[in-house]
Amino acid sequence: MIFTKIRQKLQYVTASGKTRFVIAFPELGLVVKFPIVRLKYVCVKTKKDIKTHGFKVALSMWTMRSTNLFGHRYKIIEGVRANWRERKFWHKTQHRFLCPTLFSLFGLLNIQKYMKPLSIKNTDVGRPIARVTKGSSFGCGHEFESPPNFSCQDGHLVMLDYGSIEIQPVIIKFGEKLLCLTERDCVYRE
Ligand SMILES: Nc1ncnc2c1ncn2[C@@H]1O[C@H](COP(=O)(O)OP(=O)(O)O)[C@@H](O)[C@H]1O
Ligand SMILES: [Mg+2]
Repeated sequence: MIFTKIRQKLQYVTASGKTRFVIAFPELGLVVKFPIVRLKYVCVKTKKDIKTHGFKVALSMWTMRSTNLFGHRYKIIEGVRANWRERKFWHKTQHRFLCPTLFSLFGLLNIQKYMKPLSIKNTDVGRPIARVTKGSSFGCGHEFESPPNFSCQDGHLVMLDYGSIEIQPVIIKFGEKLLCLTERDCVYRE
């Protein structure tokens, strides 16, 4: 009896994002986010770069850093950085538009509250968010476009994935206004 209860509580589902792998425990009300280390990807890329462009260019692909173009060394740890930024941003703002991040082990592992993600089917978050943010959400990458990055709680939209550096200023500026968006506003319309 007690084991059945424990087993039920520990039932989990997994999901993957751009930089993180997530194990969600809906019954416990928690998710654990692990960074994805894209070591194989960067090794294959580097091998190709050496072959086609030579060693010097391949090396610069590791070290470069411009406004939004990051070298391979950043790609490897991007998941850790996203976890850490998420934790810091939650502590700084504690905004109702954000899903609470309860704990972070230096970005190597984050624990967040579980909130059921929106389904991709018939959901469009990109357009309603762009309307509220007066277009500022455009150009922030996939975060404001992807329905599974959001949940609906207490009748308003909540963001689950806020570790990206581009989206945080948009949330600071429009967070209160974004609270007016409901699941109904996100129903896909042709
Ligand atoms: N708090 C959460 N509750 C439930 N599911 C979540 C939560 N956070 C993330 N997920 C699921 O895990 C997926 C990947 O997490 P996400 O934070 O979006 O990582 P990434 O930054 O790599 O895209 C999400 O698309 C969502 O489906
Ligand atoms: Mg995501």
